[in-house]
Amino acid sequence: MTQQPPPAGPADPPDGPAPPDLPDRVARTYGELDLSTVPAFAGGFINFGYWTGLPGPADRPLTEADRIRSEQDLYRLVLGAFDRPRGRTALDVGCGRGLGSALALREYGLGTVIGMDAHPDQIARAREANATLLAPGADATGRLEFLQGAAQRIPLPDGSIDCLFSVEAAQHFRDLPGFAREAARVLRPGGRLALTTFFARTRAAARVLPALLPPYADGLDVPHVVDEAAGALTAAGLREVRVRSIGDGVWEYYDRYMAQQPGLRDEWPRRYLTAYETGLLDYYVLTAGADRDARPAGDTP
Ligand SMILES: C[S@@+](CC[C@H](N)C(=O)[O-])C[C@H]1O[C@@H](n2cnc3c(N)ncnc32)[C@H](O)[C@@H]1O
Repeated sequence: MTQQPPPAGPADPPDGPAPPDLPDRVARTYGELDLSTVPAFAGGFINFGYWTGLPGPADRPLTEADRIRSEQDLYRLVLGAFDRPRGRTALDVGCGRGLGSALALREYGLGTVIGMDAHPDQIARAREANATLLAPGADATGRLEFLQGAAQRIPLPDGSIDCLFSVEAAQHFRDLPGFAREAARVLRPGGRLALTTFFARTRAAARVLPALLPPYADGLDVPHVVDEAAGALTAAGLREVRVRSIGDGVWEYYDRYMAQQPGLRDEWPRRYLTAYETGLLDYYVLTAGADRDARPAGDTP
């Protein structure tokens, strides 16, 4: 267990937000470049999406509404890992614009959702995008909050979170073991973690991926190996660490969507499907639980 960091204040310090606790390449992508405005994403989310629940024939053309639904469904897939979320306190690590944090509050009956992101611009965007929910007197007042903080240094007290989730952010983390230790620290006994993103399948694949995909070569993403990510959770003291591949609901559909966009069909992101099909990477859901010894029987999120 690490030293508990000082509690986060509700507002930015008087001299403005603290600088992001992020490598330059990542900070630029979520600051001035505002990745959510890139046409490969839609609706303010920034993830590849989980596409299997789309209505209509499987081979029909994919629309922007489908793209948004896929990004929401990736959140739903992760949130479905929590058995009894009603009334619980949840933390969304790497929340981006906070639309998934709001979805979690709206659809899963959580008591409180804290959206956390290391970039102050993302926190400002999350507060703006969710202004109606955050307004005094709104249903969600006091139950949805946004907090600047890094995965490897979470500004929350020990044992304060029941459900910790993270959607497509861990590929940016330089210190996955540090994140795992922080997750174990902030989870209450019996609390659960659910994380989804893409990982390299093997160490050999991790060495090859930078030659294929620019974000690995230019320092935006780290080719973490999935078994090592799971091992970090175990080493941090989390239990029942499970790894599930969900790539069959991600890559082919995402590629089809890209192929339909005139400005995107010849671009490098289409190489993700190649990387998946050649066994280099995959999209995964990792789940784990915090030791429940100190928790009364039957009180499981
Ligand atoms: C690809 S976006 C995903 C945003 C959101 N989860 C979604 O699915 O729309 C990744 C987010 O993780 C944040 N991030 C990157 N590294 C982080 C870190 N070490 N700690 C916390 N947030 C981080 C970025 O600022 C960015 O907003």
